[in-house]
Amino acid sequence: MTLRVNDLKVYYQTLRGDVHALDGVSFDLADGEIMGLAGESGCGKTTLGKSLIRLDNRMRHIDGTVELDGEKLPISDDDAMNRYRYHEISLIPQYAMSALNPTRKIGRMINELLKARGVKPATIADELRRRLELVGLDPEVLDRFPIELSGGMKQRVVMVMSTLLDPSLLIADEATSALDVSTQRSVVESMVEFRDRGFIKSMIFVTHDISLVYQMADTVMVMYAGRVAEKAPAATIINDPQHPYTKMLIGALPEVGSTTDEGRLEGIPGTPPGLLNPPTGCRFKARCPIASEECSETPPLVEIEPGHWAACWKTGR
Ligand SMILES: Nc1ncnc2c1ncn2[C@@H]1O[C@H](COP(=O)(O)OP(=O)(O)OP(=O)(O)O)[C@@H](O)[C@H]1O
Ligand code: SF4
Ligand SMILES: [Mg+2]
Repeated sequence: MTLRVNDLKVYYQTLRGDVHALDGVSFDLADGEIMGLAGESGCGKTTLGKSLIRLDNRMRHIDGTVELDGEKLPISDDDAMNRYRYHEISLIPQYAMSALNPTRKIGRMINELLKARGVKPATIADELRRRLELVGLDPEVLDRFPIELSGGMKQRVVMVMSTLLDPSLLIADEATSALDVSTQRSVVESMVEFRDRGFIKSMIFVTHDISLVYQMADTVMVMYAGRVAEKAPAATIINDPQHPYTKMLIGALPEVGSTTDEGRLEGIPGTPPGLLNPPTGCRFKARCPIASEECSETPPLVEIEPGHWAACWKTGR
């Protein structure tokens, strides 16, 4: 098992109180597994990704554990986590493409990053060129500034940079959202190839776009308001979702479920609860068409069939 997250609670401290961004998140990631992570804006996807690599100074680790390759990660100890960053876990942050330093040539930027991680660039120069070629880039991009590259090229550079040290786990946070559909597809294919070649062992692929996830992910985890709603093999999430929230999300996909007259994505009615003072019980109950009295208790996440987890009182087989 690459990753084992157990009852993880991470809150943001704000002047108005604690934002319960991750409130008891548990899941496993098998060796080789690519997991899509989906859910509406604000459900905690980025917070989960960051928690596994670096808590920013407003994030507090309240409870729970994270194990990587059988070793417990010191997630609340920023210095102790240095040993793992890039070497064992790497994150492609949301908006990474636009965050590339415009005043540095790509090659220099990569060398600086490697030195900061205690790696001599020369030891890895050949591998770097090989991997750039593998994702369809001419190694001469090393001599260019970010502004000279297209969005898709930048994204491939970011991907190569973040996986050069062969981390066990790669977290890609909306890594392809800004790209057009065909570029998205080829970047996603490169990511799968990196897994197949063993450059990374497992991957969490954060996205709003469940249909994209379906093409590449082995499993999909759906989060709702700081908690896991459902996790299952990708085909099960698309064809046989059990949690009412997942059903609504899938139903809102134009290619798969119902569409509006214009064929546009309708989205699902209502909004998620605020996480400053989250409601008790099931967090989906205000929007759930089948909510009943028992839903005022928090439903546990249970394995309803092998590899299929859901947190709803009314799922089960
Ligand atoms: N620095 C912060 N301070 C306070 N609250 C925050 C902070 N960052 C995020 N949050 C809150 O934490 C919750 C989870 O946010 P997060 O960014 O993890 O969501 P997300 O699922 O990645 O959303 P998106 O799809 O929009 O990227 C939200 O309620 C958000 O408002
Ligand atoms: S626990 Fe209740 S409110 Fe929550 S999703 Fe299930 S049926 Fe709906
Ligand atoms: Mg996010």
